[in-house]
Amino acid sequence: MSLEIVILAAGQGTRMRSALPKVLHPVAGRSMLGHVLDRARELQPAGIHVVIGHGADQVRSQLAADDVSFVVQAEQLGTGHAVAQAAPALTAERVLILYGDVPLIQTETLQRLLQQVDDQHLALLTVELDDPTGYGRILRDDQGRVTAIVEHKDASDAQRAIREGNTGILAVPGRRLADWLGRLSNSNAQGEYYLTDVIALAVADGLTIATSQPADAMEVQGANDRRQLAQLERHFQQRAAERLMLQGVTLLDPLRFDQRGEVEAGRDVSIDVNVILEGRVVLEDGVSIGPNCVIKDSVLKRGAIIKANSHLDGAVIGEGADVGPFARLRPGSELGSKAHVGNFVELKNAHLQDGAKAGHLTYLGDASIGPGSNIGAGTITCNYDGANKFRTEIGGDVFVGSNSSLVAPVTLGAGATTAAGSVITADVPADALALGRARQVNKTGWQRPKKAPKA
Ligand code: UD1
Ligand code: CA
Repeated sequence: MSLEIVILAAGQGTRMRSALPKVLHPVAGRSMLGHVLDRARELQPAGIHVVIGHGADQVRSQLAADDVSFVVQAEQLGTGHAVAQAAPALTAERVLILYGDVPLIQTETLQRLLQQVDDQHLALLTVELDDPTGYGRILRDDQGRVTAIVEHKDASDAQRAIREGNTGILAVPGRRLADWLGRLSNSNAQGEYYLTDVIALAVADGLTIATSQPADAMEVQGANDRRQLAQLERHFQQRAAERLMLQGVTLLDPLRFDQRGEVEAGRDVSIDVNVILEGRVVLEDGVSIGPNCVIKDSVLKRGAIIKANSHLDGAVIGEGADVGPFARLRPGSELGSKAHVGNFVELKNAHLQDGAKAGHLTYLGDASIGPGSNIGAGTITCNYDGANKFRTEIGGDVFVGSNSSLVAPVTLGAGATTAAGSVITADVPADALALGRARQVNKTGWQRPKKAPKA
């Protein structure tokens, strides 16, 4: 049966106290609405319709995609009214309703829900709550069949005692939806068109309401303020940490680990405290990451070691290579196997081939360093003339003396040596020594200036 998904995301989110529309607030580095879109896509629907209102332009520009259509709800007159804005565009046999501020919903939960919906059944996701204050309550008859949902503000005391709450997520037979939405009224405590009233209309039309529950109540938790946002974040992180540990990753403290993207991890990976993984990160077997590292969009091959306080973005680290402490690898950094980058070294678009070393205090940009070469402390590639970038090519087994400035474009042939403190402006042939500094002069018997006597 065909499926379309409607995501409600028009509300203001006043309690966020923010210039950013609520659904754009991030959980684990991705907007809440982005998470919901990811889950929606996993269901491979024929269409995804996002109802936007507050901050519509910002939401649209951040999440525009070929498979998403946006519909504007100019005035927020209720959840039923919101779905009604999308209704004219819906043609599928099943319609699933999701919420842009309920980001932790799991695909498996939605798949279970969707198995229950057909022409004769509306599928409702409910949750048993210790404190259901604010939630719509699920009303059932004496045979346990769902008859209606009553909103908290409209509920009697007896109804408020019901602990089965409405998550808001439901799947309906598409053919009937427009008719039910057209029959909603706003004569209720909030003066809104409640989507929840569709339940009683469906029952009156002879349908049965099938219910299911999420595996975990946090899946259906929304974020109305930043405290709840932080709870969602922690829950997400706890789950991410558990997933990695079950895959064979040691987290020295799972409470001090943050994953903001996708991680592919092998076995016997070890991650010390306060590590943040962002974007797409691959950690092969035996990788070790020290404390306080930020690693984004990078591949760490077998046995690579990243020491404390290093920052990697768009880097590839070869087998058994080691980095840090306090190293910064910017996009295009690539280390061959057993290469070494030590403290206070910055790399950008630079390739250190197998066994090459840059131990301390160095900037290598737009450079290739051949296998086994050693870059002395204080070496700088002068790759930028203020307008254009140039490359530095260093062959294998080169020894760059400390504090060399390599003025690009420049090539150092295999086996070349540069004397410490050299400014290298011309290519150095293979196996040559380049001296690019003034010769030292010693003046013997030198008298230091003396202070003039006071007048
Ligand atoms: C809704 C449900 C309630 C359920 C609860 C779960 C209704 C009438 N009530 O109540 O049964 O227990 O969610 O959290 O559906 N929205 C729009 N346009 C609108 C109104 C709302 O896009 O005109 C969006 C909001 O941005 C929000 C979501 O729909 O993301 C839910 O709206 P909200 O007003 O928070 O509904 P609740 O009162 O929480
Ligand atoms: Ca709500």
